[in-house]
Amino acid sequence: MIDLHTHILPGIDDGAVDLDMALAMGRFAAAGGITTIAATPHFYEIPKWSLVKQKVEELQREFTKAQIAVDLVPGAELLMDMGIMDMEAQGIPTYGDGGKFCLIEFPLQQIPLYAEQVLFKLKAKGITPIIAHPERYGAVVEDPNLALGWLRTGCLIQMNSGSILGRFGSSIKETSKIMLTSNMVQMVASDGHGSERRRLNLPDAFEALVEVVGRAMARDLVEANPRSILDGDFQLKVEPVEYRKKRRFFFSRLA
Ligand SMILES: [Fe+2]
Repeated sequence: MIDLHTHILPGIDDGAVDLDMALAMGRFAAAGGITTIAATPHFYEIPKWSLVKQKVEELQREFTKAQIAVDLVPGAELLMDMGIMDMEAQGIPTYGDGGKFCLIEFPLQQIPLYAEQVLFKLKAKGITPIIAHPERYGAVVEDPNLALGWLRTGCLIQMNSGSILGRFGSSIKETSKIMLTSNMVQMVASDGHGSERRRLNLPDAFEALVEVVGRAMARDLVEANPRSILDGDFQLKVEPVEYRKKRRFFFSRLA
């Protein structure tokens, strides 16, 4: 499995607090069958792409020393901000520095009005935005078809493994299922922040994913799709479809 959303770089953001924790996260992931991890620190915490890449190289050396058989790939989690529109394409963090796919989150409370513009600008720079864990955004819980709108403008969707496991509550879990069964999700990742709470629980979510979308698609979500995103040749295999709320009928009892 390939986990493309983690906060594993030590001492950078609210993820791994030190090297020991980063190594523990790596060991836990390797034991669960993860072969590749993208380090995606919050980009406002470390706003220099060259520094992220350097830190990833350092951690990879530590992994080798500690005999942790996991490949690390540089990335970052951008926060939706108008300033992104003015950034040079080379300064925008993309997976593996490939210049093709970036991870971007929105504020949890509210999707900014300028979001469409920023996403459009990223596409115009040749970068496909991957929207981080939209199932956690209140507006998407209210209307999962917002994700369909982003997909139709050429963005991709990353879901958190914790969401499908119910770690963020039942309505987010329900939204995850809706999005998965509507083909609105292209990859699932842990968004792991540590070695205890919010750990790299992608393997834990695999069977839950199998139950919702079947084994073949579950494999695509945790392996084939993340791999092709890293390789820069991702193609949509299944078309997303609109979610139609099931109508509930209430029968009043006849007197
Ligand atoms: Fe994150």
